[in-house]
Amino acid sequence: MPTVQIKDEARIGTEARIKLEPSSYLQKLSKTGTPDLAWMDDHGEWGMRAVPGNLGLRLKDIAIGSYGVVPEHGAAHNSMAPRGSSVPSDVPALGFTVNDKAECWADNVMELYEEAVARQWSSARDIPWDELKPLPDDLERAMCQLCTFLTEVEFIAADAPTRWMSRINHDFLEVKLFLATQAMDEARHTDVFRKRALANGGGLGKSSALAELSLKRIFDAGSFSAQTARLHLLGEGFVLTMFRQGEFIAPSRVDQEIFRRCMQDESRHVGYGTMHLRTQLKMRPDLAEEVHAELDDAESILLQTFSVPESVEPMAVLMGGGIKNFDHGMELQGNLWRRIVGEYLQRCDSAGLDRRPRCILPTDFGALMAD
Ligand SMILES: [Fe+2]
Ligand SMILES: [Fe+2]
Repeated sequence: MPTVQIKDEARIGTEARIKLEPSSYLQKLSKTGTPDLAWMDDHGEWGMRAVPGNLGLRLKDIAIGSYGVVPEHGAAHNSMAPRGSSVPSDVPALGFTVNDKAECWADNVMELYEEAVARQWSSARDIPWDELKPLPDDLERAMCQLCTFLTEVEFIAADAPTRWMSRINHDFLEVKLFLATQAMDEARHTDVFRKRALANGGGLGKSSALAELSLKRIFDAGSFSAQTARLHLLGEGFVLTMFRQGEFIAPSRVDQEIFRRCMQDESRHVGYGTMHLRTQLKMRPDLAEEVHAELDDAESILLQTFSVPESVEPMAVLMGGGIKNFDHGMELQGNLWRRIVGEYLQRCDSAGLDRRPRCILPTDFGALMAD
């Protein structure tokens, strides 16, 4: 009899054996003509009716009865058998490592998923590319350098969380659905900034070893929550504040529209990360030290990143309206920096992390220029 053997990583030293029997059931059916139908009585909670709300049938509308109960610990069978279904005893485990709700959950995750699905946009169709007009050379070069930086950093917010996605217990499917939308959002951000760099007579500028280092540290974070601190609280928070100020940075209406749309997406990612950390830190206050250590390092790299010309000058040129107003642009960039640090610290407060005494980011951009 043919069998397939599947390594069960969650139960080291054992193997699940699934028998692939050649259709004794079908033989019986062909002889008797009588269907089995036992599966009709083998199911999860039954007989409820989910009712759509004003916005259609959303995840929260199907969170009814036992289906709405998200367990504190994911199912020990460690498979993708749907939460709430009748699960056979011999399902093979997939070896998930994030098996506690607190390690990945955020109370807003279902709403954020629905919002993400409803607000998907197309960088090909929804940006008025045909309105893009030639810009003065310094502005175009500055915008292209900024797009190079953004193209470089955007995809980490897809690559890194989705590494963890496949390790998250399937009982927390709402988190996985949300992370899938985040990956799609970041794909779009990467593509829209790359398109912008190439759409108006410029091209890509210079990449950054320091930005790459910060991406690597996010990628290598030792836990999902540690990664969330680096990625959502600081990294994505940083670009969220930038995009919020997009009208002061963008040299054209087309660029404003790009920033506006990306901002909406980023606010979901940051909203998830902040709420997740709040949940996690409540459950595990001892995690705060690990998160602080991640942020000590991440802040230090960010400071270094913003001490090289290709990071500082494009923003000053864009905000000042050209090289001729460079000093004014630096002043405006100082205001933006103050907002970036202020909103980051507010996010830490809201996550329940007392970061203010430890943060090394000065609110005054001028302090970065002092000896
Ligand atoms: Fe993004
Ligand atoms: Fe993001």
